[in-house]
Amino acid sequence: MDDTIIAQGWVLACSLDDIVPNTGVCALVDGEQVAIFRVGEHQLYAIDNYDPNADASVLSRGLLGSIGDRVVVASPIFKQHFDLRTGTCLEAPEYSVNTWQVRLEGDLVLLGQPKR
Ligand code: FES
Repeated sequence: MDDTIIAQGWVLACSLDDIVPNTGVCALVDGEQVAIFRVGEHQLYAIDNYDPNADASVLSRGLLGSIGDRVVVASPIFKQHFDLRTGTCLEAPEYSVNTWQVRLEGDLVLLGQPKR
């Protein structure tokens, strides 16, 4: 990953083309793994890559879907669902994760700060 600082507090993660629609990738920011998801063509979400249920850094490889009006990723290990907007683990809220600020500038995907 290119960790060029674009603007204060924002880091270049990848380009939009690096993320196949409706999948995720993992970026390393200051030693922390962040799972970035592209839902549809242009909607981006970012959460911790680390799944505390499974004690493994795997969330970027989870399957995207929806439950009601929640956009979720299912962890590849135990299939818990994480709300991509809030980081809430639906089955085990005590194992929820941080979300990260993420935005698109042109075709560049920028990561901001974690919302803990
Ligand atoms: S056994 Fe730990 S979450 Fe299922």
